[in-house]
Amino acid sequence: MRHLLDTTDLSLQEIDDMIAVAIDIINNKEKYAHICDGKKLATLFFEPSTRTRLSFEAAMMELGGNVLGFSEAGSSSAAKGESVEDTVRMVSCYADIIAMRHPLEGAPRVASFKSGVPIINAGDGGHSHPTQTLTDLLTIYREKGTFDNLTIGLCGDLKFGRTVHSLIKAMCRYNNVKFVLISPKELAVPDYIKTDILDKSGCEYTEVETMEEVMGDLDILYMTRIQRERFFSEDEYLKHKDAFILDLDKLKTAKADLTIMHPLPRVNEISPEVDDDPRAKYFVQALNGKYIRMALIKTLLEWGGTI
Ligand code: CP
Repeated sequence: MRHLLDTTDLSLQEIDDMIAVAIDIINNKEKYAHICDGKKLATLFFEPSTRTRLSFEAAMMELGGNVLGFSEAGSSSAAKGESVEDTVRMVSCYADIIAMRHPLEGAPRVASFKSGVPIINAGDGGHSHPTQTLTDLLTIYREKGTFDNLTIGLCGDLKFGRTVHSLIKAMCRYNNVKFVLISPKELAVPDYIKTDILDKSGCEYTEVETMEEVMGDLDILYMTRIQRERFFSEDEYLKHKDAFILDLDKLKTAKADLTIMHPLPRVNEISPEVDDDPRAKYFVQALNGKYIRMALIKTLLEWGGTI
């Protein structure tokens, strides 16, 4: 049995295989419609979610399985003080696989020590969001046909943004990937990501404070939300909340084949007028999330020998 707690739990070959399965699912949905008949996915969401939880649930249903779970800590016995370990120990008696989101970094790892079934980290605090990264990788592969030789602009809250941290970890493993880190100084990528991941892998990166100065260099622009819930004070949030707003004017110098991504939800950082630009791929990205989660559920259940 294996869990998915961080993107680097998967080898490059395993990621390639999972992407191949997702693409086969997209092209041959009927072939997969019953592979999880009789199986149950539990979604334990101690933090709000739309895409991750619902795409996990849609994924399991489209594989023929069923879903159970909760969408906020307040409607579970966590509200009575039950520990994550005990919750997971119980739920692994009721379900074949668990997707879990928690505000505390490392909570899914703690859960994995007590679980009798595979645990999938569906986001833990500001740490990691590996299934968003798999979603992003499927999107990059479908749009660019490769993971190599790409210049990727990451824009917004790079300090607390777990999707950004996970994507850097994943993309650093490919050849000649360059990152342009676009953020205010106060929301820059944490030092440990720079020293332990970017520097160690030899991945080239630059840090800038505006998207305009680098727009023409980018193959991918990955926008992120300034996350109100991660700030320690409302004043700090208000200071940064509209730091970046992508609009059609700013895209004038962008490449014709730029891919614009965003894990969503967005607030103000991408103007709705950009949605109709053919380079805007964030809604396709959200759909890709369902297909890669189908591939992930199938893979983890197969590794565990339960399908
Ligand atoms: N991208 C993402 O994690 O969205 P949700 O918070 O809606 O799940």
